[in-house]
Amino acid sequence: MQIDGKVAVVTGAASGIGLATVERLAAQGVGAVAMVDMAEAVRAAAERCGANHPDTRFAAWVGDTTDAEFRRAVFDEAADAFGQIARICVPAAGITRDRLGAKVDRETGKAALYPSEDFKLVVDVNLVAPVYWSLEMVGRLAEWRKQQGLKGWKPDEGVQATTVFIGSISSRGNRGQVSYASTKAGLVGAAASLTQEGMFYGARCVVVHPGFTDTPMVGAMPDDLVNDTILAHTHLKRLIDTREIAEAVCFMIGNSAVSGSLWVDAGWQPPA
Ligand SMILES: NC(=O)c1ccc[n+]([C@@H]2O[C@H](COP(=O)([O-])OP(=O)(O)OC[C@H]3O[C@@H](n4cnc5c(N)ncnc54)[C@H](O)[C@@H]3O)[C@@H](O)[C@H]2O)c1
Repeated sequence: MQIDGKVAVVTGAASGIGLATVERLAAQGVGAVAMVDMAEAVRAAAERCGANHPDTRFAAWVGDTTDAEFRRAVFDEAADAFGQIARICVPAAGITRDRLGAKVDRETGKAALYPSEDFKLVVDVNLVAPVYWSLEMVGRLAEWRKQQGLKGWKPDEGVQATTVFIGSISSRGNRGQVSYASTKAGLVGAAASLTQEGMFYGARCVVVHPGFTDTPMVGAMPDDLVNDTILAHTHLKRLIDTREIAEAVCFMIGNSAVSGSLWVDAGWQPPA
């Protein structure tokens, strides 16, 4: 699918992988980007992107991706502002709430279980919200096709829309990440189903699984933890640059023959 001239919606766009994806899309000629984040910093990020890429239009929305009204408003306002519906969706906003599934208290001998409210929060942000941001794009594509009198998609039309979910190597399992890993593995099944349904309108959905990437999310970890639990199991012995993930995201958008998941993990092997 051509990136050139399209409208993209990117969540988690104030920071890390989301922001790097916005920059890369712009470098590849995207027409406009709706930059979405709960952090106010997304406004300054959009201004910086505008200065760096004068041929692309950027607009920022501040809000919570789990809020359905906010999501609908972003798509409505972006279509009005940019004059066309979104064809690219990268719902990158994500969180971790890491803790062992069952941990015995040394004094009492009682096991504390992973808090279910944290589990539900991580599911809402990392799994339910990305699926609905993708569906919002596909729903609008379906409506637009109906208005144009178009029926089922035909291959000679070319791919009409692409969603790239940001999975994780943790989808293969990781200590302390039972909630996070569940959501990232869940995105794989969601992407397969969304593609099976979405291709009726020419919309596909794929997953990029980053390994440990140099962003504030990983920056919050102590150095010795990074060395012992990450770099020791990574062939390249370094964190991944956000630009390497963004390049993979754009590759997955541009090359429609690639389906399913792409691992951008610097050769990470999960320890037993
Ligand atoms: N950094 C890594 O090593 C790594 C590895 C694998 C996958 N990922 C995934 O990549 C994605 C981006 O992570 P990152 O490392 O760039 O993190 P980051 O913390 O730099 O950026 C995440 C952004 O998402 C925003 N956000 C979080 N919850 C939100 C919500 N409910 N509504 C709106 N905005 C929200 C935050 O404000 C932040 O700006 C996440 O889905 C993460 O799970 C990261």
